[in-house]
Amino acid sequence: MLSVQSVDYSYGPVKALREVSLTVGPGEIVSLLGANGAGKTTLLSVISGLLAPARGQVLLGGQVLSGRKTSLVVEAGLVQVPEGRQVFGPLSVEENLQLGAYCRRGRQHRQQVSRDFEQVYHLFPPLARRRRQPAGTLSGGEQQMVAMGRALMAAPKVLLLDEPSLGLAPLVTREIFDIIKKLPEQGCSVLLVEQNALGALSVAHRGYVLTNGSIRFSGSAAEILGDRQLREAFLGPERFEGSTGNKP
Ligand SMILES: Nc1ncnc2c1ncn2[C@@H]1O[C@H](COP(=O)(O)OP(=O)(O)OP(=O)(O)O)[C@@H](O)[C@H]1O
Ligand SMILES: [Mg+2]
Repeated sequence: MLSVQSVDYSYGPVKALREVSLTVGPGEIVSLLGANGAGKTTLLSVISGLLAPARGQVLLGGQVLSGRKTSLVVEAGLVQVPEGRQVFGPLSVEENLQLGAYCRRGRQHRQQVSRDFEQVYHLFPPLARRRRQPAGTLSGGEQQMVAMGRALMAAPKVLLLDEPSLGLAPLVTREIFDIIKKLPEQGCSVLLVEQNALGALSVAHRGYVLTNGSIRFSGSAAEILGDRQLREAFLGPERFEGSTGNKP
């Protein structure tokens, strides 16, 4: 469904991505693992069209996304939840969610959008209780829920999640991962960027390991977890400590 083909990206002299290729199929949760500075956020931004690749292309359902305006990428079904959540602090939870449906504001979408509101509140019960609360006053976990809910309001086929567990307590992290696990049932595939490798692999079907801008390994969650050398060489043993997940 999502296909990234031989993508290169540089920030001036800094080469951030080299010949990166990956796929995310229908109903799949795929994790992208890597240390700080490996290029994870850069890759998500190239996929969502915020950055234009120097080489290579991104396809969704066989259609080339690279070079399209971001609003068209969202309409095509690909939505990014940014690192650090970036909710609109002074706006209420409901207003943040409404903004997610910006591309579906015509009358023909009205019924489906109101169904999706209820679906988001069903998926994230704490948000239902805080509809009128300014999003900036929510806890970190609740803000992550707003960011994910806002993205789901665009009815994505593929959701890009950038470090959803960042700065969250283990219990809240588990809650977020449990919600991510449910997304494929709703017709939404996931590309999950995480430094919490164990947590991510506990919900992902497959994973890729990115180091210094290149994909060094790809395989099933079990293969990545089972490879001690890979863990230590590419992720560092500390990435597997303090896990909130179970081995699949
Ligand atoms: N706006 C920028 N200008 C110049 N260099 C940048 C910029 N953004 C990122 N880089 C560089 O590109 C490389 C990849 O950064 P990126 O943010 O994609 O990494 P990351 O894997 O998301 O890291 P983290 O886990 O810390 O979020 C790093 O070397 C970083 O310094
Ligand atoms: Mg990042």
